[in-house]
Amino acid sequence: METKQLFLNEGQREGSLKAAAEILKNGGTVAVPTETVYGLAASALSDTAVAKIFAAKGRPQDNPLIVHISDVKMLTDVAKDIPDVAFRLAEKFWPGPLTLVLPKGDKVCDSVSAGLDTVAVRCPKNETALDLIKISGLPLAAPSANLSGSPSPTKAAHVVADLNGKIDAVLMGEDCAVGVESTVITLVTNPPRLLRPGAVTAEQLREFLPDLVIDSAVLKELKSGEQAASPGMKYKHYAPKKQVFLVEGESRAFCDYVNGQENAVALCFEDEADEITIEKLVYGKSDSAETLAKNLFTALRKIDELDAETAYVHAPEKTGVGLAVYNRLIRAAAFKVISL
Ligand code: TXA
Ligand code: MG
Repeated sequence: METKQLFLNEGQREGSLKAAAEILKNGGTVAVPTETVYGLAASALSDTAVAKIFAAKGRPQDNPLIVHISDVKMLTDVAKDIPDVAFRLAEKFWPGPLTLVLPKGDKVCDSVSAGLDTVAVRCPKNETALDLIKISGLPLAAPSANLSGSPSPTKAAHVVADLNGKIDAVLMGEDCAVGVESTVITLVTNPPRLLRPGAVTAEQLREFLPDLVIDSAVLKELKSGEQAASPGMKYKHYAPKKQVFLVEGESRAFCDYVNGQENAVALCFEDEADEITIEKLVYGKSDSAETLAKNLFTALRKIDELDAETAYVHAPEKTGVGLAVYNRLIRAAAFKVISL
C-alpha cells in the first residue's frame, strides 16, 4: 500500500488532520506525533482497525495497546469502575506522559487489550495528537510506531524508515519532546504498581500513591515461566541489531574501559566525550536525564548505521527520569551489564 505523508505546515495542517481523521473513521492506520514517541493509531472501537496495527508492526498478539483520549471526560467511555485517585492523577499529569491501567470499558474492542479485562489509557500532550482524537471523534489505540522490537520512533523519519508501505498515512510532525514512552501504572492491583517508568517519575507518583511498588520486571529480566504484569515487558525491546553492553561506573572508569576496546562505539555523556578516543555518540548530559531520554532512541538507531560491532553505553542514574532511560537501555543490552 502507499503510505501518504501528511504535512503540518501552516496552510497544510487543517487538510492533513482532516484526511487523517477520515482514514481513522474508515478503519485505517495513521502514525501521529505525541510528546513521548510517535504512535501508530487506529480506532480503539474496531477489531478490524486494531488488527492492522498488529500486522503493520509485527507485534505479538498478546501485547495490549494504549488507548489515547483528548480529555478526562472521555475516560468513562473507555474504562469503568474508575477509582478516585485516577481522576486526581489525571488532573495533575494529563495531558502528559502517564498511562493508567484500569478495568476495561465495554465499548473498547477486545483486541486492544489483547483479551485482558483491563485497558491502558492516556491523554497525550501534543496538539496534533489531541486534534486528531477530537476531529476523528474516536478514542485511538496507539502503540509506538516502530517495527516491533526496534527502537521507538522519536522523529517522523524513523516512522517512515520502519513502516513506509505498511500503514495508510504518517502525520509528519516535529521531533518528540520527551523521547521515551509514557510511564505506565496499574491501578487494578493493590498496591498499585509501576509497570514501565517514563517522564512522570515514581517520586512524583508517590505523592498520590504512597504505596506504589515498582514492578520487578522494570530493572530485571523475567525468569522463564514468570508471568509479566505488563505483557510488553517480556519482549526484547528497543534493541539495535548490534551487540550492546550497558556499563555502570564513574566517568573516568568508563572512559578508560571503552578506550581499551576495539571495533566498538561508546554511547556517552557530553561531559566525558573529550576523554574518549574510540568512535563515540553523545546522548545527553550526565546531570540531565531529560536530555538522555530525548536523544536515546535516535542514538540507538545510529548505532546500527556504524561499522563498529559492539556498543558500550554509559548507564545513567536510576532515579527520576533516569530510571526510564535505564529501563530502555537494559533491554537494548538484553540485560548484559558491566559494573566497573
Ligand atoms: O508514550 C507512549 O506510551 C506511546 C505513545 C504512542 O503514546 N505508546 C507506547 O505504546 O509506548 P506501546 O504499545 O509501545 O507500549 C504499551 C505498553 C506495553 O508495554 C504494554 O504491554 C502495556 O503498555 N500495556 C498496555 N495495555 C496494558 C494492560 N491492559 N495491562 C498492562 N499493561 C498494558
Ligand atoms: Mg513500543
